[in-house]
Amino acid sequence: MKNGTVTTKVVTGPGWELRLGDCLDPNTGLASLERGSVSATIADPPYSSGGLSSGARARSTGEKYSSAQKPCPNFPGDNRDQRSFTSWAWRWLAACRDASSARGRLAVFTDWRQLPAITDAIQWADWIWRGTGAWAKPLGASRPRAGGLWNGVEFIPWASAGPMPQAGQSDCYAPCLPGLFQAAAPKGAARVHQTQKPDEVLERLVELAPPGDLVCDPFAGSGTTGVAAIRRGRRFVGWEKSPEIFEVACSRLRAARPQ
Ligand SMILES: C[S@@+](CC[C@H](N)C(=O)[O-])C[C@H]1O[C@@H](n2cnc3c(N)ncnc32)[C@H](O)[C@@H]1O
Repeated sequence: MKNGTVTTKVVTGPGWELRLGDCLDPNTGLASLERGSVSATIADPPYSSGGLSSGARARSTGEKYSSAQKPCPNFPGDNRDQRSFTSWAWRWLAACRDASSARGRLAVFTDWRQLPAITDAIQWADWIWRGTGAWAKPLGASRPRAGGLWNGVEFIPWASAGPMPQAGQSDCYAPCLPGLFQAAAPKGAARVHQTQKPDEVLERLVELAPPGDLVCDPFAGSGTTGVAAIRRGRRFVGWEKSPEIFEVACSRLRAARPQ
């Protein structure tokens, strides 16, 4: 964090820090990170999806994303219309870009409805859009669409802050991760957030940062990115706006160990 900035509730552990609050808070949010300090930004924002009309989007996250087998807390910030979602995404993506190192990478989760909006916002924020990966859920696991295609995929557009390394360049860290991640959503006791991502997907994505470098997640939720960063030997900073979900994430982060 820059010197002299205001602090909020912050819980820390070895190599990780989770802040309670809005990632766009001018004092305690992304703007308080040292410029150039982040090697990988992995974001799973509220999609503001789950409906084609504003009335449908205004429902609680529990009503919209009801595939979780057990009740988990609702979360805020999921009711924006298309235009306000895009301009809001531009704001936090630009703040992430400011905090990114020159070699930094970005990966953002989204769904089919918001893919065009988020890829616009990535480019507006001065990231260089490089491609779109996908998280494919097991066939039949969610969102059947009779008469159409099964929407069992979430998308992961990714970007770089600057030029990409040349393949085989010996002095640079350059993993090549799969563009398709096949994994089931967490179930049973492991399921603690309505839109929790699978640990195994995040454990690969944090490899976008070299070992020991800083991974940032502006929308930590249950802390999956942070848990993956700890397990894979990266440092972590994240934000979570819901106090209830923040406590869930803190518990998971405290229990995580390098593997
Ligand atoms: C899609 S969920 C992230 C789920 C997470 N990837 C996981 O595996 O548990 C988005 C989270 O962002 C939080 N959130 C919403 N608006 C926020 C904001 N402005 N700043 C920080 N967190 C926010 C929500 O409370 C929610 O928990």
